[in-house]
Amino acid sequence: MARVYLIVPLLVLLKLPGNTTRLMHGGVAVNNPTFLAICEAMKEKKINARKLLVLSLGTGSSKGTNKLEVGSPDTAWGLVNWFFGPEQSRPLTDVLMAGSNEMVEIYTSSFFQFSGLEDNYILIQVDNLTYAEASMDNSSKENLDNLEKIGKERVEANKEKLIKLAERLSAIRHASRSSLSG
Ligand SMILES: *[C@@H]1O[C@H](CO)[C@@H](O)[C@H](O)[C@H]1NC(C)=O
Ligand SMILES: *[C@@H]1O[C@H](CO)[C@@H](O)[C@H](O)[C@H]1NC(C)=O
Repeated sequence: MARVYLIVPLLVLLKLPGNTTRLMHGGVAVNNPTFLAICEAMKEKKINARKLLVLSLGTGSSKGTNKLEVGSPDTAWGLVNWFFGPEQSRPLTDVLMAGSNEMVEIYTSSFFQFSGLEDNYILIQVDNLTYAEASMDNSSKENLDNLEKIGKERVEANKEKLIKLAERLSAIRHASRSSLSG
């Protein structure tokens, strides 16, 4: 039977000394939940990846061009530069977040590609946001409108893939309905 899973890790439970607990944004541990979602779906439904259609919707990242020039004597960085970069960038956090995100993307796409299932995994992502657009706490109307516009452009650019995916989902649904009623 076809099921659609939407997995967003919202919170991670931290156990601190003295029996206190704190909740933390899930992105800190599972910045890219795609692989976790795949594992959960396989475990839950006891199926292998062949039966999975994965649509991964990225929340966008910034390029970081010219923001990570460490090393030449006049740009040599101290601790502060790693935490507070130009144009509100956060170089250390950006590197850690982007690194873990891209590793998950590499594992997932390689896994599907080399299993001959490349059509079962679709990633829609944008990687050329400005720092303001990529920051997660800028809720100004201007920024939100702009993000909506970028999102719509991505959908338009991936229209064919999305339509194909919808057709496959619809075919699976019809097949499972007729096998249920038959
Ligand atoms: C960002 O990249 C997309 C293609 O991936 C392109 O359509 C868009 O124009 C680019 N935006 C900017 C601001 O460069
Ligand atoms: C929020 O985003 C807008 C549009 O991208 C930008 O002009 C503005 O400087 C940003 N504000 C902050 C506080 O980053």
